[in-house]
Amino acid sequence: MKILSVVGARPNFMKIAPFIKAIQKYNYENQTIIEHVLVHTGQHYDLRMSEAFFNALDIPDPDINLEIGSGSHAEQIGYTMVAFEKVLIEQKPDWVVVVGDVNATLSCSVVTKKFNIKLCHIEAGLRSGDMTMPEEINRLVTDKLSDLLLTPDLLSSDNLRKEGIPEEKIFFVGNIMIDTLEANREKSVNLDINNIVNVNMVDGMKYSYQHNLGSEYGLMTLHRPSNVDSEEVFIPIIKFLLEEVCKDLILFWPIHPRARKQLINIGLWDEVINTPSLILLEPLGYHEMVRLNMGARIMLTDSGGLQEECCVLGTPCLTLRWNTERPVTLREYGGASVLVGNNIERIRSEYYHTLKLDRLPSRPELWDGHTAERIVAIIINSNRK
Ligand code: UD1
Repeated sequence: MKILSVVGARPNFMKIAPFIKAIQKYNYENQTIIEHVLVHTGQHYDLRMSEAFFNALDIPDPDINLEIGSGSHAEQIGYTMVAFEKVLIEQKPDWVVVVGDVNATLSCSVVTKKFNIKLCHIEAGLRSGDMTMPEEINRLVTDKLSDLLLTPDLLSSDNLRKEGIPEEKIFFVGNIMIDTLEANREKSVNLDINNIVNVNMVDGMKYSYQHNLGSEYGLMTLHRPSNVDSEEVFIPIIKFLLEEVCKDLILFWPIHPRARKQLINIGLWDEVINTPSLILLEPLGYHEMVRLNMGARIMLTDSGGLQEECCVLGTPCLTLRWNTERPVTLREYGGASVLVGNNIERIRSEYYHTLKLDRLPSRPELWDGHTAERIVAIIINSNRK
């Protein structure tokens, strides 16, 4: 059997790493060869957004890199489809495995089904209900086309049933991101916070950082177009950070290229890097981010993956979105996160409330570190049918 899997952007890498390891384990234990080909579409291409994750998570180099790079959605999707079609003609896999909800996921799913090749979607069934999110469109199309839909939680399985996906295609397998978290916890916990911060500080910051053990800090990430692209939304968030959060807390902000460009465009870059308690960092490696998350007093984020990691690590989390496709991470489901959207009044009141909360780790069903093994078993079984 030949499986071809696809990655394109940063959040894909932590999902594919355990899958590849589970294939290797299966081959070793069963004296068999599942042939595996890894395709990187190249949507993320920087050392820090891409290659660093391959190295840190021990992912083999991609067999094929489509080198699509940046562009509009239509450009990224169109170029990926054209290039991926050639890959399928040459490789002729039995299965294509896609993960998550980025543009690579959608593009390669469409091309795969045009060739009538079996398609498996890891992290199926997530729904925010928000059609203004590019990721929601990617999820809907990918799930409609998939032959195997592997869900991280039971709410996601229910979403698929409600959309009329046949029961025999849906498998609840747990969250593969948590496989990566569990496999890398030990390495992360031993990293030194001072070192992480000082090595990764963006150029131009005047301060060196001396972390005292036990002292408190917050952690933030922001990258969604809905928060970053519009000045009316982005500027008040930055002002809130500068005028309130950073008055009483050190805030580490590993900055995504989209947010960095916008800070420069709106003329706030200098003010931000000259605020001693707001420490801008380059995009962090996997272990470095987990380490900072483990010790953070509070997380402010619009990332789906961080919401999940905060849930398992117990970091009180403000999710700067109005909706989430990951409700199991919310406080009402036992998780660590609360939706605050991008309204400053709401962010402010939840911020001060959340600062008083203790860490509360929780583990949704099957977020147990063994999702990838279940996935490999399901694909093998389906291939026999
Ligand atoms: C993409 C995904 C999003 C995911 C996020 C994680 C889609 C629709 N969106 O959004 O779901 O949560 O990745 O990061 O697929 N850039 C660089 N270096 C890089 C990559 C990008 O500088 O290595 C710049 C691009 O030029 C662009 C911006 O970052 O200006 C955004 O990149 P893009 O891939 O378009 O989308 P993301 O916002 O990263």
